[in-house]
Amino acid sequence: MARVFVTRQLPGPALQRLRARHQVEVWPGRLPPPPPELRAAAATAEGLLTLLTDVVDAELLAGAPSLRAVANLAVGYDNIDLQATRARGVQVGNTPDVLTEATADLTFTLLLAAARRLPEALAAARGGDWLTWEPARHLGAEVHGATLGIVGMGRIGSAVARRAEGFDMDVIHTGRGEGLPLPELLARADFVTLHCPLSPATRHLIDARALAQMRPSAILINTARGPIVEQSALRRALQAGTIAGAALDVTDPEPPPQDDPLLSAPNLIVVPHIGSATRLARERMAALAVENLLAALDGDPMPHPVRG
Ligand code: DGY
Repeated sequence: MARVFVTRQLPGPALQRLRARHQVEVWPGRLPPPPPELRAAAATAEGLLTLLTDVVDAELLAGAPSLRAVANLAVGYDNIDLQATRARGVQVGNTPDVLTEATADLTFTLLLAAARRLPEALAAARGGDWLTWEPARHLGAEVHGATLGIVGMGRIGSAVARRAEGFDMDVIHTGRGEGLPLPELLARADFVTLHCPLSPATRHLIDARALAQMRPSAILINTARGPIVEQSALRRALQAGTIAGAALDVTDPEPPPQDDPLLSAPNLIVVPHIGSATRLARERMAALAVENLLAALDGDPMPHPVRG
């Protein structure tokens, strides 16, 4: 039996499988364990099941001599220092594929909601401002036939592209194959959606300069990682109306402080990082993370390894 620390309660039956084989401690809080608590738990653990909010860095690893496995409950793994895990021979796994469709669905939900100004319309209906059918109010952008620019044509980007076909959208993307350079994509797209991982190369990829390359009628959607967008530049672009709107599932930091001026920027939708939040996707993520841990603690390779 190995000692395993799990940083949050998980949905579904996966944790029972882990408990049947190992000595499992689950952090009981709704908030992540503060770094000193996480380090203290890791100090005696052989396995960690972490979330994207838990930083696994060289300092934590240096104080965790028995640690053999870190299973991240996310497809992204920018919270883990892979150089440090590699140096210590700690296996790292993630939860790809099972959240692809759920995240693509949320991306399209945000795209449609921003295009059709849903929050504003909802507020009008609830707030007594629905006086009659008005020909010139709540006018949004047409999604059908528009150009969708996908930054990062991996699993989730491709799933978004499949949805766009149903709306007869013209899909352009950066990266492999027919990929366009980012400035050209930004200049052509009516909707720009981000699906690249967060890395030193993509941090603030969408900065003031990139935002200035977008069309004034364009809408930015981010369901990837908050720091890919330079948030103060986005706020300025929304306030100045140099882009038409934005919809964010992710911010930097998460959550943004309640008094963050970004939150009162015009034509902005923000939701609390719910891309993968369907019951099925989250239960499957938990199952994959547990499979990763069980394999690694048996001395086998993880079935869903991160090869960073
Ligand atoms: C991930 O998996 O990286 C998402 O951000 C959370 O589902």
